[in-house]
Amino acid sequence: MSQRTMEAHYKPNWNLTQAHGLSGYNCGYAASPKCGSFDQHQRALVWQLLHDTPIGPDSTVLDVGCGIGGPSGWIMDRFNPARIISLEYCWSSVRAAHDRAAERDRRPRFVQGDAQSLPLADNSVDVIFNLESALHYPDKKSFIQECRRVLKPGGYLCLGDITTRYKRLFALAGLMNRLPTQFNSNVRLWSVDDYELTFAACGLTTLHHENASWKVADSLADGLAEVRARGLRSAGGYRARYFYLAVLEKLLRSGKLQYDLFQVSKPAA
Ligand SMILES: C[S@@+](CC[C@H](N)C(=O)[O-])C[C@H]1O[C@@H](n2cnc3c(N)ncnc32)[C@H](O)[C@@H]1O
Repeated sequence: MSQRTMEAHYKPNWNLTQAHGLSGYNCGYAASPKCGSFDQHQRALVWQLLHDTPIGPDSTVLDVGCGIGGPSGWIMDRFNPARIISLEYCWSSVRAAHDRAAERDRRPRFVQGDAQSLPLADNSVDVIFNLESALHYPDKKSFIQECRRVLKPGGYLCLGDITTRYKRLFALAGLMNRLPTQFNSNVRLWSVDDYELTFAACGLTTLHHENASWKVADSLADGLAEVRARGLRSAGGYRARYFYLAVLEKLLRSGKLQYDLFQVSKPAA
């Protein structure tokens, strides 16, 4: 998909993050309803996805689809790994991530690239972090094969994505992908089975899986309440995104959509 279309899709997210002081582009995770701010929920989703994945001072972490760099920075602050490479498709987000990290002592290396063709050597990465990005990839299988290629033996892939058991229904909604609107983001959803079968076919072992739909819906509810507290009138530049996220919350609660967190590993040599 063209950069311009993806950038147009993420412009309202940028406006929302600027208005509310956020640095993540994800839906967040609320351990219980109304338990914190949306910023806290966005960080909580990162820890939840990482689960018990070991990241130490010698680790190389690759954040694929890093957005404006919030999660990469949080991972750097918490684990202080040797390096974080943060790959993002949209140039505007790469630049924003880079600028936002300017004040940091140590910063991730933000690079433009496509998840389906990772610009990294074989067996070079300890942990791949991929949060709420794969829904946009037309060829998710290539992405997972690429993950296997660049992971060191014994390395981990932590992948969080929106999935569905109702692929026909959402294939229809995919007609929006053909319209030149801010809702076109090339979304093509997989089911949990699609993921698990592809992990296995690519030689990756699923260690942990969580259906986080309700926790994510609770987080969205808190985030939407924060927007309402300021007044929807002041939400110029992201009002339509408010309704988009409100629909997402309802679909997650209804089970039509799911939010899944996978921790998988490449077998040790
Ligand atoms: C919902 S945002 C999540 C960003 C970040 N992971 C976070 O949690 O804040 C999805 C990101 O994936 C990026 N993306 C979409 N397609 C991509 C691709 N083929 N390769 C790399 N990044 C991609 C988008 O530009 C967007 O920044």
